[in-house]
Order: sequence, then C-alpha cells, then structure tokens
Amino acid sequence: MKKNLFFTILLLPAFLLQTYAQNKTDRALLRKADETLQFAARQYKLMMKHVPDSLLPRTTNSKDGSLMTSNSGWWTSGFYPGTTWYLYEYTKDPAFKAEALKRMELVKKEQYNTHTHDLGFMMYCPYGNALRFTGDTAYKTILLTSARSLATRFNPTVGCIKSWDHGTWKFPVIIDNMMNLELLNWATRVSGDKQFEQIARTHANTTIKNHFRPDYSSYHVIDYDPATGAVFQKKTHQGAADGSAWSRGQAWGLYGYTAMYRDTKDKAYLDQARHIADYILSQRNMPADLVPYWDYDAPGIPNVPRDVSAAAVTASALLELSRYTDKANSKRYWQAAEKMLISLCSPAYLAKEGENNDFILMHSVGSLPHKSEVDVPLTYADYYFVEALMRYKGIL
Ligand code: GLY
Repeated sequence: MKKNLFFTILLLPAFLLQTYAQNKTDRALLRKADETLQFAARQYKLMMKHVPDSLLPRTTNSKDGSLMTSNSGWWTSGFYPGTTWYLYEYTKDPAFKAEALKRMELVKKEQYNTHTHDLGFMMYCPYGNALRFTGDTAYKTILLTSARSLATRFNPTVGCIKSWDHGTWKFPVIIDNMMNLELLNWATRVSGDKQFEQIARTHANTTIKNHFRPDYSSYHVIDYDPATGAVFQKKTHQGAADGSAWSRGQAWGLYGYTAMYRDTKDKAYLDQARHIADYILSQRNMPADLVPYWDYDAPGIPNVPRDVSAAAVTASALLELSRYTDKANSKRYWQAAEKMLISLCSPAYLAKEGENNDFILMHSVGSLPHKSEVDVPLTYADYYFVEALMRYKGIL
C-alpha cells in the first residue's frame, strides 16, 4: 500500500505533465490542421482556374516548372477530383463540388478499363467520395462496373490481381495493388456478390505470403508464373534495389492492410498492418521529422530526396490504424502521425500560396530510378495529406 502511494506521488506529476503536453500538441495541431485545410482550399481554388478543361493535374514539369497534366488513363487521374470532394466536405463551398463533378466526367470512362490494376485509385477516390458525400446512388453503378473491370485481372492460380500489362514481366503484382482492394470490398457490401471480397482477401493473403521479408518490409514487384502461380522473381521498379524498402511501397502496404482490416475485421490483416507500421517507425534511416527519404535504404542518405507522398499516405494510415489497436500502440501510432503532419504543415514541405503550381505540398518523388517526378508536387501527396488532416480533425 505504502509502496503504491510512493509511486503515485512520484509518478503522478510526470503523468499529468505528459498528458498536459500531449493535449497541448493536440490542440495546436487541430488549429494548424484547420489553417492548413483552409490554405489547401484557397490553393485548389487557384488551381481550378488554370487546369485545361479536358485534362487533370499531375505534377510540375521539372524542365520548365510548368504544370504537368494527364488524361484520364494515367493512374493518378482520380486524385484531383477526390481531393476536391474532400475540400467540398470541409468547406461546403459549391465550387469544389462543381469542379469535382466536371473532372469526374473525364474519368468516368475508365470504369471500363481492364488494362490496369489502378482502378481503386482512379475510380474509388473520386466516385467513392462522391457517393459518400452526396449519397447519390448513380455513382454505385459506375463503381460496380469499375470493380468488375478490376476483377477481370484476377488469376485464381496466382491468387492475385495482375498489376501491369506493360514491360517484360510475366504476371507482375506490385505492393501498391493493396490500395485497390477497398473498391472490391465495397462492391461486395453493395451488391451482395461475395466474389469481389473473396478476390480481395485472396490477393491480400497471397501478398502476405510472397511480398514481405522477415522484417515486414516489402518487395515492390513480385513476378509470378501465371500458369503455375509460382513466384518467378522478386524485384523493384521504383525502389533503390530489389532488396530495398521503397518508402511509398511500405506506405501502400500499411494503408492497404489497415483498410482490409476495417472492411473484414480479420485480425491477420490488423497484425500485418501493425508489423508494417512497426517496421516503418523503427527505421534507422527515418529522419527526425518523420518525412522519409524516397527509399529507406537509398544509397547516399542523408543527401537524397525525401518523399512527402510516402509521409502523407503513412500519416493517414497510422491515424486509422491507431483506432484499431491497444492503448499503448494506439498512442504511439497517433503521435507518429501527428509528428508527420506537423512536419508536412511546416514551410519545409507546405507550398506558399499561389506557388508550386497551386499544389498543396512540395518535395515528393514519383520514380527516382526512372528520373521521373523527382522532388516535385504530386496529386496523391495532396490527396492523402488532406485526408489525414480531415481524419485528424475527426471529419472522416
Ligand atoms: N502506384 C504507383 C506509385 O506509387 O508510384
């Protein structure tokens, strides 16, 4: 009894101090999140004015600093209308809804695209948000068609959805593919057809088996033999080396398994997400501000580019994961996400108003080995950043 009293007297002030400090961080970041979302809304209002009507923003052209756009077939086409839906939800400004609807018309035809696995990004970000924020059931038909198109790429012998049709690969599956499974789970919930979720589960299970190393870092590409399902090779495409941990790939895995747990409540997916989170947060090469270098094993660290998109995806995923774990881990994940967001909201990464081609964040990396989109803004960094800020504020 005396011993307990002694510890209470000794530890209580430290506990209260820690709680006070945490509450102070929470309050400061809540204010900062509002300021930043308001800034993001102003910035995207500027962007709306100069993106040609028939195109979608993509990044900054590193040759001349101009805005680089894409057509709807590029894998990032859904992020800009997806972000404008988030900003509509935050501001209730009808200009964002009008802009989202206008750009979604461009993306709509991709529901029939059976030549890519990226339909989760391209269709679920804009149309999923549209459905969520308007309740308009017309979007369901488009999303179900998209899910059917995605499902055509599933090979039951491999147990995965094929990622790419390009290159000399036999049956390439990239870790990024985990991000498309939400669309399939949604399709089962809405249609009652169990096949979609079964494909998602099988893909997620095969990926657990073959994509991860013993430390829970992941390979980027697993190339399968489509006739037997055997692993043919384990490679990278956008990472520093076959055996390295490409930062955004780790973030896609974390987000993907967290979403799989949300949709299925299967504990194996929660465990996988936690292992990935723990891998990321224990990286010796993780900078103090928790905005990762483009690859956790990049040669030349610390003199290599950061990848802000990896930080944005990781932060958003950690905020969700923190809701599913025990108290101690929940706090750890939440605080890591807070630290990432505090960094991303700082002038080191947040653009100045009217600059950065009106993207919100600077300093992302698309594919360094291909010398493509290095140290530039990217639509998906903006999308997951805005999502993370809204999750932090409890709006989503
Ligand atoms: N899904 C492609 C990328 O993350 O670059």
